[in-house]
Amino acid sequence: MGLSVVSGISEAKDYLISTPKTSMLITATPGEKSKFQYYGSRIEEADIPGIYASGLAFDKESYPVFGLNTPGEKAMAVSHPDGNMTLDLVVDRVKQYSVDDGDVTEIVMKDQVYPFVLRQYFKTYSGSDVMTTWVEVDNDNKKPITLYRFASAFLPMRRNDNWLTHFHGFWGGESTQEQERLTNGQKVVANKDGLVNTESDNPSFMLSMDGEPTEDAGHVFGGALAWTGNYLIKMDVHSTKFDMSAGINEETSHYVLDPKSTFRTPEFAMTYSTEGKGGVSRAFHRWARDHKLHDGNKEHDILLNSWEGVYFKVNQKGMDEMMQAFSAMGGELFVMDDGWFGNKYPRNSGSSSLGDWEVCREKLPEGIEGLIASARKNNIKFGIWIEPEMANTKSEIFEKHPDWIMRVNNRPLSTGRGGTQIVLDLTNPKVQDFVFGVVDGLMTKHPEIAYMKWDDNCSVLDYGSQYLPADKQSNLYIDYQLGLKKVLERIRAKYPDLVMQACAGGGGRVNYGMLPYFNEFWTSDNTDALQRIYLQWGISNFYPAVAMASHVSADKNHQTGRTVPLKFRFDVAMSGRLGMEIQPKDMNDADKAFASRAIAAYKGIRPVVQFGDLYRLMSPYDNKGVASLMYVVPDKKRAVFYAYKMNHLINMVVPTVRMNGLDPDKMYKIKDLTPVDEKRPCALDGKTISGKVLMNEGLPMASLLNKEYSSLALELEAAE
Ligand code: GLA
Repeated sequence: MGLSVVSGISEAKDYLISTPKTSMLITATPGEKSKFQYYGSRIEEADIPGIYASGLAFDKESYPVFGLNTPGEKAMAVSHPDGNMTLDLVVDRVKQYSVDDGDVTEIVMKDQVYPFVLRQYFKTYSGSDVMTTWVEVDNDNKKPITLYRFASAFLPMRRNDNWLTHFHGFWGGESTQEQERLTNGQKVVANKDGLVNTESDNPSFMLSMDGEPTEDAGHVFGGALAWTGNYLIKMDVHSTKFDMSAGINEETSHYVLDPKSTFRTPEFAMTYSTEGKGGVSRAFHRWARDHKLHDGNKEHDILLNSWEGVYFKVNQKGMDEMMQAFSAMGGELFVMDDGWFGNKYPRNSGSSSLGDWEVCREKLPEGIEGLIASARKNNIKFGIWIEPEMANTKSEIFEKHPDWIMRVNNRPLSTGRGGTQIVLDLTNPKVQDFVFGVVDGLMTKHPEIAYMKWDDNCSVLDYGSQYLPADKQSNLYIDYQLGLKKVLERIRAKYPDLVMQACAGGGGRVNYGMLPYFNEFWTSDNTDALQRIYLQWGISNFYPAVAMASHVSADKNHQTGRTVPLKFRFDVAMSGRLGMEIQPKDMNDADKAFASRAIAAYKGIRPVVQFGDLYRLMSPYDNKGVASLMYVVPDKKRAVFYAYKMNHLINMVVPTVRMNGLDPDKMYKIKDLTPVDEKRPCALDGKTISGKVLMNEGLPMASLLNKEYSSLALELEAAE
């Protein structure tokens, strides 16, 4: 995607790395430090002298290392076998080459004295405005070296009125948007959970270069670390300078690297938009679908998950009834959640059985075969829940393999969920085989299984590996993740068509380290449609709708106790990957009929939502009483528009919403996708309005959203 070498000033060599809308400029001259000059909107070779002349070039090390001239933040620190803690790297050579999905620039740097090689990579992806960077380190000594700091990316930024947008959360409130002006000092977005790395904060963020960011204008940098373990993103802000670094969190994780081994940092993905935050999101969504998500361009089925419908009370009859009812509503896939396994200790609560992945004969005498037969009879696909990295102290696996769990042998064992949950030690290759075997065993016996929800409801509790030697205990957090990656790679090599969902007590693993092996993620255990608008808004900044599982749940929501109309619940869930998480038996006939119509409507708009470009129109975080967003297909012939009444007072100002992303010259025919009464769709149904009017003037919402929890889901189709 446009790599070029340009001779810059003096003997320096400039490397211009470009995507369709962005460029990075690096100077890498053999024998000298590698220098970062520019990252921003796309420039051409002819613009490079202007970048220097204008003072825009940073001329700062592209990967600053610790030891000589130490003040300030650095990207890497190591100790050599003789105890020396300094690095002095200069460029050895630069390689540029194409790979399957893009182009790579590799800057090879060598220490001037020690046998230490560092390669810094920059990769562009075909057809994408996202580029990634990472480094690799070789230990060419005869003894181990220790890495104390190992950022994936280190970028100087221009100090202006910079604003940071990041996503903070809690169980049930993941990815809640925070937006703040950056002031002098350090701002850190970090995680130290060990396993669940996106419940509290997400490793993705935007930085506005010129004031409070908007959706459609202004220069915004977007970055995301592709790692599912502990991470550290740091903004080091001073009046006169501003550096951003992102990578694995090295706290209590200094890494002992054996001789003849290589350490590779995760990719840090970034884009630069001159179209505000919306431009960053659309670039990330496209990159995710085309290059990162597993099968990101395949449509996702509409599913019913059993969790909120029956919790642990799984049995053949109940599952069969759910499948039958869901299939009658037009559903495509049924997922049996927790509660189906364990014989010595049947899984009836969160306090036993994890690791004993045998079907519970007492609850399901016909086995998984019986469930698959039900699915076949009901013309629906079948999926299943697993939490394969885990065990309980009350489980056969713990009795048989007490050495497989993470623990500190001479100390009491800490436990998580149910007072008994413990984590398997994935640094151990035998445990890796076991975890792979959970999926492989199920799939070998039951190749009809179409979907797996892979959960993780525990953090690293006791820091100790019974497998790693004493001098490598500090590798545990990182080696766990590398072990998990190996398992997931094996699963994907053998089962490329299995649809997998990443879940961690809700939205605890929504990141680009996990997603290459998964088709989708569970956004949050909170299925309350009103709060979902905030959570899904946050998630939508970096993660595409096709992967965002969004389920219609019970009338009185199980997490918040809120009651909102079924239409509102559908209109929210239909803005992501639609599913249901409800007991169909508790729905009356009118609700079932409405659900059937909404499911049929979603099938019609599925490609628009799952693969369209997202335009966020009115933010719930702006408290205007209305939230609104839309998806538009690239040729602008079809779009889907959503609007939600967020609160309701008689004398309130209800705003007009202006659309975005349409073709001003096209006429769009509007269809109400989810009228409660088929004979009485909303007033806009059947009307034709130009893209120009819809975007420049918009739609007044006052009469359309005139009740508490009113909502709209509209399809727009360009007239031929
Ligand atoms: C986690 C998940 C839920 C459900 C339960 C089952 O909390 O987030 O969706 O699968 O586990 O125990």
